[in-house]
Amino acid sequence: ASEAGDHDLVIIGGGVAGYVAAIKAGQEGLKTACIEKRGTLGGTCLNVGCIPSKSLLNNSHLYHQILHDTKKRGIEVGDVKLNLSQMMKAKDQSVEGLTKGVEFLLKKNGVDYIKGAGSFVDANTINVALNDGGEQTLRAKNILIATGSEATHFPGLTVDEKRIITSTGALALTEVPKKMIVIGGGIIGLEMASVWSRLGAEVTVVEFLGQIGGPGMDAEIAKQAQKILGKQGIKFKTNTKVVSGDVSGATVGLNVEAAKGGKEETLDADVVLVAIGRKPYTEGLNLENVGIEKDDRGRLVIDQEYRTKVPHVRVVGDCTFGPMLAHKAEEEAVAAIEYIKTGYGHVNYAAIPSVMYTHPEVAWVGQNEAEVKASGVKYRVGAFPFSANSRAKTNLDTEGTVKFIADAETDRILGVHIIGPGAGEMIAEATLAIEYGASSEDVARTCHAHPTLSEAFKEAAMATYSKPIHF
Ligand code: FAD
Ligand code: NAI
Repeated sequence: ASEAGDHDLVIIGGGVAGYVAAIKAGQEGLKTACIEKRGTLGGTCLNVGCIPSKSLLNNSHLYHQILHDTKKRGIEVGDVKLNLSQMMKAKDQSVEGLTKGVEFLLKKNGVDYIKGAGSFVDANTINVALNDGGEQTLRAKNILIATGSEATHFPGLTVDEKRIITSTGALALTEVPKKMIVIGGGIIGLEMASVWSRLGAEVTVVEFLGQIGGPGMDAEIAKQAQKILGKQGIKFKTNTKVVSGDVSGATVGLNVEAAKGGKEETLDADVVLVAIGRKPYTEGLNLENVGIEKDDRGRLVIDQEYRTKVPHVRVVGDCTFGPMLAHKAEEEAVAAIEYIKTGYGHVNYAAIPSVMYTHPEVAWVGQNEAEVKASGVKYRVGAFPFSANSRAKTNLDTEGTVKFIADAETDRILGVHIIGPGAGEMIAEATLAIEYGASSEDVARTCHAHPTLSEAFKEAAMATYSKPIHF
């Protein structure tokens, strides 16, 4: 094993958490190494997550719209054909461009990018099993663990990424399945259900709970989402659990029953997507060599400054607490480096937006109505439908609502929930408002350009303490 000299910081994992930390550390003048075993930087998000899924969502939406939503707009198209391999190529090109871009940014900031798998020898020594063979030993003053997460598998259904797939397989199918079953109606399930249903698959989503959308989505908004996605052709079986599966036949047979128990029913599909959540990934780190703890869900235990029991070993991103989101990982990465450099850092966990990139999009920040109710705070709700917004009407894209929840006494915004066109961009304004402790009246008295979808946002804010003008 060769010695590479001491580093101020060694980062294990080159996903969003790890690479952002690496760039920030480089900018701060720390001698930094980033170890990544995948062969490319960017982690789950850039390689098999956020980016490829958004490429397929965007292009499948365009395809679907050209097929079903042009005539009334006065556009008559001829033969429309899907070229799936070209759609996949476009996705791969986006991924490649971005992962290479990250590699360039590490270089630009003087970070040593080491391709291999890192593991602890002791609290200051990391061994790297290099991808190209051989080993390298790194000594570090500080260590940052950013090893991310992996898909949770369904017991008894062995993933082959062809017939029984995770999101990774769902981003790389080589043909459109005739029938697809999605186990889990969370964000991954609904985004991938949208892609394949738009491309022609008959998709059924089986969800254990009575509500789709996964943790956090407001119940009223989730109901609207289910109705709209249902109209687009996705079938839902909520309050339903998968009991077992059989892959011996030409199609996969899934036995399902009512969540509370009941009559069993067998569904069949060419492809089954398992999307029942993700879990922290910390395999092979030899954490026992340093005594770093995990909780009962496998998350690495840290304090408010991202420190493990070993104070110079910190953890950020999907492998520790909090929502498994790329932008959350990024915020933590920057804060962790600031703690190392200056002793101070900050992430406001009350202002982290969530976006589901279906059409329409669903986006939210802050508390949902059930959470506010449970907190006992008196609140008011203001809502505004896109069907009353001039731009949405002009665009012939009027499904959805903006919903504000504000404190009844102070009018401070507690949560904003949007289903509608462009919700994912619009939520930035709500996040800023919450970050600055704004009241709904602050938002409503802010001038918004006409005609824009953001006027629906303003009018929903208005509806919490007064009346909206256009509804
Ligand atoms: P990861 O991105 O998982 O990166 C960890 C990296 O560490 C991996 O590349 C892994 O190879 C490497 N690694 C692990 N162990 C070692 C080791 N011992 N040595 C060296 N390297 C190691 N989030 C959003 O905010 N928006 C979205 O639109 C979105 N879409 C998603 C779509 C899908 C299909 C999926 C699966 C996830 C999506 N997410 C999205 C979640 C997002 O991808 C994660 O929150 C984010 O990637 C977390 O970043 P991370 O750096 O913590 O972990
Ligand atoms: P999730 O936790 O969002 O949803 C899983 C769903 O599966 C839940 O609704 C749950 O009730 C259901 N479920 C669990 N077990 C089940 C069972 N046995 N049978 C039927 N249903 C079952 O997890 P998901 O969708 O896998 O996503 C994982 C993570 O990735 C999330 O934390 C999410 O934040 C992140 N992600 C974010 C995206 C975004 O920001 N746009 C896109 C995709 C993923």
